[in-house]
Amino acid sequence: MTDVQADAPFGVREAPHHRSWPVIGSSLAYIRDAHTFLRRLYERHGEVAKIDAFGTQCHFMLGPDANQFVLQNRGNLFENARWSYFIGPFFNRGLMLLDFDEHRLHRRIMNAAFSQDALLGYFERMQTTIDAELSRWDAGECLLFKRLKAMTLNIGSEVFVGQKPGDDADAINDAFLDTVQAATGLIRTAIPGTRWNAGLKGRKLLEAHFKRAVPAKRANPGPDLFSRLCEARTEDGELFSDEDIVNHMIFVLMAAHDTSTITLSNLVYQLAKQPVWQERLREECRAIGPGALSMTDLERFEDTSLAIKETLRIAAPVPILPRGVTEECVFKGVRLPKGAMVAVTPWMTHHMPEWWDEPQRFDPERFSAARAEDRRHPFLWTPFGGGAHKCIGLHFGMMEVKAILHQLLLRFRFSVPDGYVMPQDFTSLPIPKDRLPIRLERLN
Ligand code: HEM
Repeated sequence: MTDVQADAPFGVREAPHHRSWPVIGSSLAYIRDAHTFLRRLYERHGEVAKIDAFGTQCHFMLGPDANQFVLQNRGNLFENARWSYFIGPFFNRGLMLLDFDEHRLHRRIMNAAFSQDALLGYFERMQTTIDAELSRWDAGECLLFKRLKAMTLNIGSEVFVGQKPGDDADAINDAFLDTVQAATGLIRTAIPGTRWNAGLKGRKLLEAHFKRAVPAKRANPGPDLFSRLCEARTEDGELFSDEDIVNHMIFVLMAAHDTSTITLSNLVYQLAKQPVWQERLREECRAIGPGALSMTDLERFEDTSLAIKETLRIAAPVPILPRGVTEECVFKGVRLPKGAMVAVTPWMTHHMPEWWDEPQRFDPERFSAARAEDRRHPFLWTPFGGGAHKCIGLHFGMMEVKAILHQLLLRFRFSVPDGYVMPQDFTSLPIPKDRLPIRLERLN
């Protein structure tokens, strides 16, 4: 047993077991209101608690010390392969699901597709798509989440796949949604009508779509991420097989398009609720100018960067990061058995009143140099994870969110009715349950 943090003076103890309903365990409590569920878990049991949910048992590890212990992963005590329990059949061998030496090798190859040079190419292409997409938006009431999701998928098609979304765009969008929603299905076999079955069908469609396209990409590469993955090599010349490329494409496209959509929806929601911040960011966008942005322009979004960070704090798009324990170990006196599933939770950590001032308040200035609340602990603000698996698309994501918000703020003012509170659906990645009805008013 590796005794990594055996600081318990009276010996090692088992994690307290959070009792709940037979069979469904705490699944419904989590899906109904993950925020309240996680907070209560912490208040009742402390930093580690064992729960039954989604057909399995999991040691929830709560707070920034737990984040650091698990994400830093000294001694390779935790493996990412355990993500497979939720998303394995749908995102088989995506980068996030690989471990240790194999993960390092794949990440080294994939880095080439996220180099500064590559990002510049993606950024230029992305802005043309954003401009074209937003030019088609009408003013008035709309379900913003749906519009943003369609837009980020189209950006993904252009920038990642290198093609205009064709007739199958809706089918692909649905396939992604089905694969993501399947993750927390209670019935985990291919029974028609279940989320799991829809997810499997989605995966099949995506695999066939990308498999067909590999030979043409290899023969005729462009500036898109798909081509970059086909060409990407380490310094020793190692590159991806066709199968690896398909697996990575499916995972990256999902990772990019869902997380950015969630971030943008939450950001627009917050700005609709806080018109003062909305105007402040609009002024910043006006000062930067209406045309296409350069990479150096991105540095000029100061208030916008604070607001994005605050949005990622309030609503971390990936609320929970599961891992498998590879070797029995101890965290703050609690035993974590070999083979157990553990999970750290950026969502819960981001709302701890023990660490943040008024955590429920949208207050972007908490990230300013003067206040820097996030620096109170190196693993307090972790929307992109941390350690070896820290999000490889972080810069891409921030760039995309800024470019879309810039255009959106210059073209529309947005509002929600007084007292409106956006309901969160925690079935999988947290999305607005009502798809965020919002009023858009055209500005020019
Ligand atoms: C605001 C947007 C985003 C958020 C909040 C986010 C969040 C995360 C998180 C929390 C992880 C770590 C998962 C873990 O440790 O288990 C991760 C990994 C990853 N993300 Fe992102 N992500 C975002 C955007 C993107 C984009 C735009 C891309 C691609 C262009 C991307 C691609 C990936 C990949 C490939 C991994 C796996 C990295 C690895 O395992 O080495 N993400 N992301």
